[in-house]
Amino acid sequence: MINITAGNFQIILCAEQGRKLEMVHAGPVLSAPEEVIAHRPAVFPWLNKTDWAYPVWGGGTFHEPAAAFLFHDGQIGADFFYDSHRRTELEGGSLWEIRLKDSHYPLSLTLCYRTWENYSVIEQSVLLENGGEEDLGVKQLASGFVRLRGEGFHLTHLAGSWADENRLFEEKMDRGLRIFDSREGCRTTRHQNPAALVSRGDSSTEMAGEVFGFLLAWDGNWRLAFEMDDKGDLLAQGGMNPFMADEIVPGGGELRSPTLVMTWSGEGRGPISRQYHRWANDVKLASRECDVPVLLNSWEGAYFGVNGELIEQFIDDAAEIGVGMFVLDDGWFGSGEDARNSDKAGLGDWEVNGEKFPAGLRPLAKRAGEKGLKFGLWLEPEMVNPQSRLYRDHPDWIVNNPHHQPLTERFQLMLDLGNPEVEAYILKVLDGYLREIPEIGYIKWDCNRQVTSPGSARERRSQTAFYREYEEAFLRIIDRLRINHPHVLFQACASGGGRMNYGALERFHEFWTSDNTDPYQRIFIQWGTGLFYPSRCMASHVTASPNHQTGRETPLKYRFDVAMSGRLGLELQPSRMTEEERVFSKKAIREYGKIQPVLFNGDLYRLRSPYDSPLASLMYVSRDRKEAVLFAWLMKRLVGDSYAPVKLQGLDESFSYRVEEINPLPPKVDPSGIQLPRTLTFYDQILSGSYLCHFGVDFQFYTEYSSAVVYLKAE
Ligand code: DGJ
Repeated sequence: MINITAGNFQIILCAEQGRKLEMVHAGPVLSAPEEVIAHRPAVFPWLNKTDWAYPVWGGGTFHEPAAAFLFHDGQIGADFFYDSHRRTELEGGSLWEIRLKDSHYPLSLTLCYRTWENYSVIEQSVLLENGGEEDLGVKQLASGFVRLRGEGFHLTHLAGSWADENRLFEEKMDRGLRIFDSREGCRTTRHQNPAALVSRGDSSTEMAGEVFGFLLAWDGNWRLAFEMDDKGDLLAQGGMNPFMADEIVPGGGELRSPTLVMTWSGEGRGPISRQYHRWANDVKLASRECDVPVLLNSWEGAYFGVNGELIEQFIDDAAEIGVGMFVLDDGWFGSGEDARNSDKAGLGDWEVNGEKFPAGLRPLAKRAGEKGLKFGLWLEPEMVNPQSRLYRDHPDWIVNNPHHQPLTERFQLMLDLGNPEVEAYILKVLDGYLREIPEIGYIKWDCNRQVTSPGSARERRSQTAFYREYEEAFLRIIDRLRINHPHVLFQACASGGGRMNYGALERFHEFWTSDNTDPYQRIFIQWGTGLFYPSRCMASHVTASPNHQTGRETPLKYRFDVAMSGRLGLELQPSRMTEEERVFSKKAIREYGKIQPVLFNGDLYRLRSPYDSPLASLMYVSRDRKEAVLFAWLMKRLVGDSYAPVKLQGLDESFSYRVEEINPLPPKVDPSGIQLPRTLTFYDQILSGSYLCHFGVDFQFYTEYSSAVVYLKAE
């Protein structure tokens, strides 16, 4: 018996020398795990056995296999048996390595389970070793596989599209195979996020139900597959997408999968988010030791119309309003007919536009530094416009079958990073800027299209290696940049939501959550995102009203109150704000400093969903329960709607908390002159955790797009 336990999550395998490895349990920690081995049900001889821990095609399964191989002799069936295992103690948990060997071919599979005791998280990955001399064809190699005994299942996942990322979907599982995947080659998480919840039995709620979390820490093409078999069991797996991605592993070679990260809760989906967030914040995220400061970005304020004078103004305004960084977005490069004055030209020509910035960028970066600001720069390194010098010089560098006409999207083509010349060029450009302008403290790495015509002029034995080679080169570039410039922060932008995965987040400090900055729609987008990703990596900006994506008009307070639930930023021209708005913004940015530690490190409790209620609310509670921040946003207003008080969670009921409203507005007077009660029913008061959790907070909201942010501190 192999008992892999992480906190309250357990996987039990039955391992006997020379037999196939079985998975007999995945779920809560059992007090006597040997019982499930001793009493596992016998399988009728005429029925198919499906409890393999890692089913390989040819080894006794007709369901979706975890792996499938094509041998040099043309055979397609493999047959792996348990060989040995070892456990190594590591910080925070253990690493289990279980070795399986094929009965004929010199092949081994090592199933690796990395446990994280404090977070009830198990990371699974696989190492394939080809010990023979011949090439091995790999059709599929999942990172992880779990079998869940059947009682009916519900699946929850995140899907969407541009400016509508991470909508929450839930469905009841029926027999058959349900696949979530991406074939986009890069920015592979925009339409579907590589994460899902499986609830055993009925649909789970925030506080009830048995729930498994699955997410893939991989930025390239990915796949999660859930198959309900003929017995009603659920076979769940995840890994790189095998679609058009056959690999050849030469004799003596190996292939390592990315990581499937699993967790479990017996008390609904709330703990799943908290477990993932703690794991991410403590051990996974690049930003766990260095947060991105509140920033001002030039995009929605200036679009392509940037120039030296305007940026000086931005920098001065940024300093005056109290942010910690200014980011120069798109539009600063290319020259002559290739100048980046719109999205039609310039990508690839990463030289500063001398007409717009006669003195270059360094003086601006220095000016920012003198004013106590970091300086950030936007680039889209993987792309090229046909209207550019780079494309004219290197038409063979693009992603495309060279026998076909290239297909543009947003007037741009992609560069094949898998081509070593391209990889070297991109590294040189980025590394060059970071050396030339050492004041740069942040790179916004954009990526505004996906692969729709894969392959390139680069010679490959088969272009099916394209996707992996591209991704590996991308990761190598960012890894090298981080080694060379450890003080620089990186944002994975990708049109918003396109690189929102833990493969990227090991390297990038945050992601741009969505190009949609309308606070109303952001509440939904961030609600879904928060299911798996913590607030510290969720960039969220206050922009002008009416909103540029939806045309919706919302008060500045609402925009701040929503943006403040992620990594706060501003994306407008402060010089176009009224004095009153600037004063409000300055104060809000200062107050954000107070709530940021609990927001970034605390536990998330979703109190009322925007999908179910006109009043959405969530809160973060510090791990010692001494501080909390509560957000409430009115989604729509119908006279007569009444909202039950919002009962808080996660507080220590024996503590007393001072309750303070952040960004308060002065009391309102209605048009007939009546003074309306203020948002909260208590101000400057100390209330017990017990009152707050059992009676809750009453919000008095009178108009659509009202909101409140409340900071609680134990006295
Ligand atoms: C898409 C990004 O998501 C935006 O924030 C902005 O950087 C534009 N690209 C610039 O072209």
